[in-house]
Amino acid sequence: MKILFATPECAPYVKTGGLGDVSAALPAMLANLGHDVHLLLPAYRGMKVSGEIGDGVELPAYGPWPAAQLVPVKAPNGVTLLLLACPALYQRAGGPYVDESGNDYADNALRFGLLARVAAQLGTVQSPLPGWTADVVHANDWPCALAPLYLAQARALPLQQPTAASVLTIHNLAFRGLFPMDAADLLGIPYHWRGIDGVEFWGQLSMLKAGLQFADAITTVSPSYAREIQTEAHGVGLDGMLRARADRLHGILNGIDTGIWNPATDPLLPHRYGRDSMQGKSLNKKALQVRSGLPTEGRAPLFAVVSRLTQQKGVDLVLGALPRLLAAGSQLVVLGQGEPALQEALTRAAQEYPRQIAVTLGFDEGLAHLIEAGADAFLMPSRFEPCGLNQLYSQAYGTPPIVAPVGGLRDSVTDATADPAHGTGFVMASPDAAGLDEALQRALRAWREPPQWRKLQVNGMARHFGWEDSAKAYLAVYEQAISAAL
Ligand code: ADP
Ligand code: GLC
Repeated sequence: MKILFATPECAPYVKTGGLGDVSAALPAMLANLGHDVHLLLPAYRGMKVSGEIGDGVELPAYGPWPAAQLVPVKAPNGVTLLLLACPALYQRAGGPYVDESGNDYADNALRFGLLARVAAQLGTVQSPLPGWTADVVHANDWPCALAPLYLAQARALPLQQPTAASVLTIHNLAFRGLFPMDAADLLGIPYHWRGIDGVEFWGQLSMLKAGLQFADAITTVSPSYAREIQTEAHGVGLDGMLRARADRLHGILNGIDTGIWNPATDPLLPHRYGRDSMQGKSLNKKALQVRSGLPTEGRAPLFAVVSRLTQQKGVDLVLGALPRLLAAGSQLVVLGQGEPALQEALTRAAQEYPRQIAVTLGFDEGLAHLIEAGADAFLMPSRFEPCGLNQLYSQAYGTPPIVAPVGGLRDSVTDATADPAHGTGFVMASPDAAGLDEALQRALRAWREPPQWRKLQVNGMARHFGWEDSAKAYLAVYEQAISAAL
């Protein structure tokens, strides 16, 4: 199958969260399973890409978009990267979505409109890449979500050219890609698709809604989240249309790239370890304590958070649980960046309790690995979580996670109290302060019983979170989308 995977971020080139990890691992697994995978990604500033660079293709200026270039790079993992080079749109200081001050770029509609438009073109007979047209265009999140609409537009042309099938994956429904409706002119969205049955969302244009409306198949990153987003509580106003398209909606759990997240081989760790040789884990704990400026106390349970600091992740609940953690003599290490109020509250807590709390603000891949390896337990009390990757990494690293009973967290962690034989962590009874407090008490009790704790660690480390099964589930969805598009 010829698969075009379109994404605004892909590790290790550019990553702000889990989508970066998924974009690295899933296409590689699809290629590994014998498919021809091309990955379309904007060429952002400072991105270092290795591989065999092919001849660039010129994309002429079109409508509001300046001329651009498509540069194919054969990556060592068997995927062909298609870098979308358009310096006026992508060569910026700041991240993929926001400038250095954290504000959305004012021209995001154009920036991601181009990404989606080129993705769609690669699935038509007018594909800009000589000799290559996708069978399926797999768009990820709102930045690519106009691609299914553009494909539907191409399909509706008088000549009725066949086009690729379209699949949209929702990594986070909360980001709806909202723009003033004026953007519809710029983006070339036909008038008859600007209403409530098209891209309109409470008077604005929602790129995500366009994708939900027009994709031949929709997926999201866990079965539980696929159910939750069809309810008013988690549907952010899109639940009605998700219910209407429920027959096209599939929940497929993310996996782990075991080439990157494996404590036995992880080059970012000072000490490697495995299920049968856990000494390295204690050494990593010491290394983490030293690096964080905490006393190298072996008996103090070390809890950790690695996260975007937002409401979604329940960071305020962690702050609320500090009295319980501190009273138990625990240590807490936090790595993250995000909302200023949460950053400040965490920094204040670390200043007040320098022997127990250490906070690093920023994005640091190496430290994220050391934390997964060095911590005793991982906190993830998210209010909602489409999948979540850190609870998977935690289990693989022998760091039992304490998680909220939502989305992919519920689908990937087995509660130690409910199922002592297979438990891998602690699932809160409710996604709130009381739920976290109660789960923490259970975790602290288990920590004081080393054999019980060891069982939890071993159970988690024995789990298989590889990508192969999920990649096969995506292939089945691609097949269905292709039949639906005929
Ligand atoms: P989300 O995509 O919602 O942020 P996930 O759990 O799916 O949540 O994925 C987050 C990914 O980003 C993980 O690989 C995690 O290690 C990484 N990450 C998040 N914040 C940081 C940070 N401050 N520094 C390094 N890595 C981070
Ligand atoms: C989103 C979600 C996260 C998920 C990731 C990758 O960022 O918030 O739960 O793991 O996408 O699919």
